[in-house]
Amino acid sequence: MFVRKLTVNGFRNLHPTQFEPCEGVNILAGNNAQGKTNLLEACWLFTGARSFRGAKDREMVAFGEQCAKLALDFTANGRNQRADIRIEQRRSVTLNGVKLPSAARLAGTFCGVVFSPSHLSLIKDGPEGRRRFVDSAYCQLHPAYVGTLAEHAKILTQRNAFLRQASEQRTTYAEKMLSLWDHSLAVASARLTAARCRYIQKLQPLAAKIYDGLSGGREQLTLEWESVAYKEDASSAQIAANWANTFAAARAADLAAGFSTQGAHREDMIIRLDGVPARVYGSQGQQRSAVLALKLAEATLLQEISGEQPVAFLDDVMSELDVSRQDYILNHIEGWQVFITCCEPTAALRMNAGKVFEINGGRIVNIG
Ligand SMILES: Nc1ncnc2c1ncn2[C@@H]1O[C@H](COP(=O)(O)OP(=O)(O)OP(=O)(O)O)[C@@H](O)[C@H]1O
Ligand SMILES: [Mg+2]
Repeated sequence: MFVRKLTVNGFRNLHPTQFEPCEGVNILAGNNAQGKTNLLEACWLFTGARSFRGAKDREMVAFGEQCAKLALDFTANGRNQRADIRIEQRRSVTLNGVKLPSAARLAGTFCGVVFSPSHLSLIKDGPEGRRRFVDSAYCQLHPAYVGTLAEHAKILTQRNAFLRQASEQRTTYAEKMLSLWDHSLAVASARLTAARCRYIQKLQPLAAKIYDGLSGGREQLTLEWESVAYKEDASSAQIAANWANTFAAARAADLAAGFSTQGAHREDMIIRLDGVPARVYGSQGQQRSAVLALKLAEATLLQEISGEQPVAFLDDVMSELDVSRQDYILNHIEGWQVFITCCEPTAALRMNAGKVFEINGGRIVNIG
């Protein structure tokens, strides 16, 4: 899968232009605030996802303009395709001339993976982001998992609503009422736990291999899904039984707290480097490398299943990485189309092949 041409009009600070990258590594170099991330963002929108910066649609329309128009000529499944995005208050999209009901419907047609400095929160912040990473990656592989997540969220919300107003009721009565929810919550939680563990088992060897390459074989990355209900090789039925026991034991604590203190909504992915948690002990470069390894492993898994190589968008990935880690990125993401932004184009000189663009005040110039 690769971008052949991006046509931009009225998008952020970018001047109206046609941008034609190569099929390999593309370096987007320039000083701060010139439009490098804006250019990645414009391409990224064609994955159907929202902006990786969390921007609202209308914020992407250039100041003083009514609308932004983007067009992407790309090749997927060996076929040349074209998608058009028009952004006013919201996005409207056509694919090969046919209007789609929503921008999200582009998902699966043009596939990409993005790394941006904000993704470092995957290591640095709390477990919610790590659960979201695993859940959304699993949704890409198994779309039905969206419904599994929604079902779990619905039951949990009902149980929590009961717990909030149960404090006035007699404890024995309240505990009996809770037991009614616990069976369905245990089954729904087990589906989440089993899916997440399966995903981590697939992701782990790929992420470990990429991290091994990044660190020149000096450090080892391991992933573990931390769940009170999961022991190695447990079946879904065993996990559900474990959850049921856990919920039963936690009823008194849940009533005292007024919410569910145990469940799949408290699980976490533990990322370790040489056996110790990256969140606590990892250096800046190690944390950046670990996030990158997770993101590239996610894309590799997607590629194994869909048979198509996604496009990699790497925003400001080079800073804080030493030369050997930079070289690994430049030379070892073979066969993928890659876009890398950086302030210093010197890294590009060590690159095997590709194009270098300079972004200056929203203008894109091919410099090599
Ligand atoms: N809707 C908009 N209309 C016009 N300009 C905008 C709009 N949104 C953002 N900008 C401007 O685009 C400029 C470039 O932003 P961008 O994030 O692409 O910079 P960058 O080259 O990635 O810089 P850095 O190296 O600091 O990450 C910003 O200075 C911002 O003011
Ligand atoms: Mg930027």
